[in-house]
Amino acid sequence: MRIDIISVVPELMESAFNHSILKRAINKNLVQVNLINLRNYATDKHKSVDDYAFGGGAGMVLMIEPIAACINDLKSKNTYDEVIYMSPDGELLTQKLSNQLSLLQNFIILCGHYKGVDERVRQHLITKEISIGDYVLSGGELAAAVLSDSVIRLLPGVLNDETSALSDSFQDGLIAPPVYTRPAEFNGYKVPDILLSGHTANIEKWRHEQSLLRTKERRPNLNQ
Ligand code: ADE
Repeated sequence: MRIDIISVVPELMESAFNHSILKRAINKNLVQVNLINLRNYATDKHKSVDDYAFGGGAGMVLMIEPIAACINDLKSKNTYDEVIYMSPDGELLTQKLSNQLSLLQNFIILCGHYKGVDERVRQHLITKEISIGDYVLSGGELAAAVLSDSVIRLLPGVLNDETSALSDSFQDGLIAPPVYTRPAEFNGYKVPDILLSGHTANIEKWRHEQSLLRTKERRPNLNQ
């Protein structure tokens, strides 16, 4: 898989891809992530990527020209399944959507900034719009990192224990059960006896019950 992320502040995302699971996935060549500075595609001598909104109003708008130049350049070198725009009014990111995206070969993510992008970008250059929740971030960069993380961890070979993505919350429409580690007792707070019993079948049964209980309590609408 190849993910090309276009942004005016690509540095904001560097750390997300330089540590832990994502770093390992990149080093193992399971995914290629390219952070692209939109400013490199500015078409004027001031390297502008944004301008005032026609009709007035506060806030700058990302211009179509550098974005089109950047996307065209990428498309001249690779083929892409989707060109995704991160936006608070896009389709809400769910585990189901991450699973679907994990089956793609290559995709581009465009991060908005300032007041957003010229609407013509969304109409003509973007194939999918995704939001990570009903709140507004200062730009799409953190959202792009969230989306990429949720997709990359699903790629075969990324997680050490292949079953561990399958037991993630949401993967089977259920919240994951609680987990515990040493010590078995801390300040009188005890680990449930069942987990110390060594009885695998009973433990699995207890975990499933806990998942059902948690889902009912915390996300009763998960499967609707
Ligand atoms: N850009 C700003 N806010 C966002 C959000 N909630 N999701 C995706 N992109 C965004």
